[in-house]
Amino acid sequence: MKVLFIGDIVGAVGRNALKQMLPKLKAKYSPHMVIVNGENAAGGRGINSSIVKEFFDSGVHGITMGNHTWDQKEIFDFIDSEDRLIRPANFPKGTPGRGCTVIKNKDGELALINLQGRTFLPPLDCPFQKADDILNEWKKKYKYILVDFHAEATSEKLAMGWHLDGRVSAVVGTHTHVQTHDERILPQGTAYITDVGMVGPRDGILGMERQSVLQKFRTGLPVRFVVDEGKWHFHAVFIELDASGLAKKMETIRIYEEDVLFD
Ligand code: FE2
Repeated sequence: MKVLFIGDIVGAVGRNALKQMLPKLKAKYSPHMVIVNGENAAGGRGINSSIVKEFFDSGVHGITMGNHTWDQKEIFDFIDSEDRLIRPANFPKGTPGRGCTVIKNKDGELALINLQGRTFLPPLDCPFQKADDILNEWKKKYKYILVDFHAEATSEKLAMGWHLDGRVSAVVGTHTHVQTHDERILPQGTAYITDVGMVGPRDGILGMERQSVLQKFRTGLPVRFVVDEGKWHFHAVFIELDASGLAKKMETIRIYEEDVLFD
């Protein structure tokens, strides 16, 4: 199975980049599954139903979220009924939505888990324990399993990679918006990267308009951040899995808008 996982899509610029690049990437990689992290898709904060529809219409099969899951109030209207969108599984019991799902299409099925780190992020249940609980419940029912670990700390993400090595197909990190260069296949066959990176404005700061971020750092006063409007950069990973569900290959993808205009 071939999986294209696309990093945090930030605002309208990020959504436009996805629209522009997905057909090209599908032509190049022929992925069976396309998964995106959509927690910053609506103005940098959360996601709404029209963006969810836009993503699925453009050829996305599954959406993962993170710490901004609840920022758009209307998510409460559809998160329980949309089983192709998941939020971190380690929210407390009773939280709306689901933390894991199985995405099915004509090419097969991919089990998807979303977890959130606890270092430098609001406290949640233990993501390591939660991952074990889900895998125990599934009892090896699914061959292809992808985990989006939405977390801040490199150490926590690496720890999750090693914790799940050989038990899932891939552990991909999201949230920091900067693609790391440590993609690898761990010894027991799990593809791992600390952070996939973002899709959105390149000259902002993590996608947000940079003057406001600078002002916050310089003055320490509260500032309202808005998504930047400049040219985009696009980050993703392409993962190839063998018949046993373990990874054969992981490749990082980084594209700059200015390079695409002339291809
Ligand atoms: Fe995040």
